[in-house]
Amino acid sequence: MNFKELAAKYDTPLYVYDFNHFTEQFNKLKKSFKARKSIIAYAVKANSNLSVINHFAKLGSGADCVSIGEVKRALLAGVDKYKIIFSGVGKRDDEIKEALKSDILMLNIESEAELKRIEEIAKQLGKVARISIRVNPNIDPKTHPYISTGLHENKFGVDIETAKKLYLYAKKSEFLNPIGIHFHIGSQLTELEPIKEASQIVADLVRSLKAVNIDIKFFDVGGGLGIRYKDEKLIEPYDYAQAILSTLSGLDVTIICEPGRFLVGNGGWFLTKVLYEKENGDKRFVIVDGAMNDLIRPSLYNAYHKVEVLTDNKEMSKANLVGPVCESGDFFAKNVDLPKTNPGDLVVIHSAGAYGFTMSSNYNTRPRAAEIAVMDEKDRLIRRRETFEDLIACEIDYLKE
Ligand code: LLP
Repeated sequence: MNFKELAAKYDTPLYVYDFNHFTEQFNKLKKSFKARKSIIAYAVKANSNLSVINHFAKLGSGADCVSIGEVKRALLAGVDKYKIIFSGVGKRDDEIKEALKSDILMLNIESEAELKRIEEIAKQLGKVARISIRVNPNIDPKTHPYISTGLHENKFGVDIETAKKLYLYAKKSEFLNPIGIHFHIGSQLTELEPIKEASQIVADLVRSLKAVNIDIKFFDVGGGLGIRYKDEKLIEPYDYAQAILSTLSGLDVTIICEPGRFLVGNGGWFLTKVLYEKENGDKRFVIVDGAMNDLIRPSLYNAYHKVEVLTDNKEMSKANLVGPVCESGDFFAKNVDLPKTNPGDLVVIHSAGAYGFTMSSNYNTRPRAAEIAVMDEKDRLIRRRETFEDLIACEIDYLKE
C-alpha cells in the first residue's frame, strides 16, 4: 500500500481500505464452516460504507443490522434480503414496520415487551414476523467491559428461562414464526472457551425446544472474533468453527455468523499528517490533522492502535500523538516512541478498518474524512470528504428567517 501517494492524491485525514484483505478474511471464515450450511452476515456497524457492504454482498455475504438505516444500506448495497438480520435492544415501531415490509430473514428479539410489540405490528400489517430470540448465556467473554455483551449485567438478550417462555408464546402466535436463535457474548474475543460454553448452552436450549416441536432452523452465533492490534493471541477461524460445530451434534441448523471486526479491522488504515510538534515542560506532543472525532477508539476504550510516522528520521523519543480537538482525551497514542517529525510527515494509524469511520462525528465542526478502497492495486474514492456546507445542511437558523 503506497500511503504517501494516496495521501498526496486524496489529502488527509483519510481512511484507506484493502478490499483484497476483506475478501481473504471472508473466504477464510466461510471455508471454516464448510461442514455445515452457513451464512456469514457481515456486521454492518463495523464499517457501513456502501462499497464495503456491496463488496461482501458480491462474495455471498448477508448482513447483521442494528437499525433500519443499516437494513436500508444492506438492501441498497445488494445484500440478499433473506440474508439480512435486524438486531438491537430498542427497535422503534417505524423500524419494525419497515423491516417487516422489507421481508428480511428475521428480526432478532431482545425482550418480552419487544416480542409483543412485533406481534402487534405484524398483525396490523397482516404479516407473519420471522423472529429469532437473543439468549444471554451469562458467560464472561474476557474482553473489554464496554464490548462484553453476554453477561446478565449487560443489557442484551434474555435469560434461558425467559427465552423458553417466549418461544412457546411465539409458537402459538398466528403472527410470529420463531425460526432462529441468537447469542453474542462480546467483541474482540481472543479466547475460545467462552464461545464454546455459550454455544453449548444455546444448543442445549435448541434441543429442548425441539422436544416441544419448536424447530429452530438458524443458529446465530453472533460476531466477536478478535484481530491483532498489538500482540494478541488470536483464535483461528477453523478452531472457532470447530468449537461451535462440536456443540451442534444431532441438530440440523444453518449457522449464521456475524463478524464485523474480523472482516475489516486489519484491512483499514487511518492516514493523518503532522501539523506541529510542541513541548509542555518535559512532555512532548506531536499534533496531527486527524482527531478523536475521526477515530474515537483510543479515547473511548483506551484502545491500542499501532502508529507509524513515515519519515527517515531515526531520532526517537517518547511523545503523545494528539489531534486538534479541544479535549484532553483527544489522542491516538500516549507515551510512545516517535521519531522527530516535520510538518507534513505522514502518520499511519493501523487496524482502523472496523469501528473507525462508523464511529466518527462532526465534533468541533470537523468534516468527516474521505474513504478510499484499494483493490488489485487500483484506488477508488468511496466517500468524498465532507464540506462545511454538508455540516450545516440540516440546520435552520430560525433567527434569520
Ligand atoms: N453481532 C452482534 C449482535 C453485535 O453486538 C456485534 C458487535 C457484532 C455482531 C459484531 O461484532 P464484531 O465481530 O465486530 O466483534 N465499537 C466497539 C465494538 C462494539 C461491538 C458491538 N457489537 C469497538 O470499537 O471495539
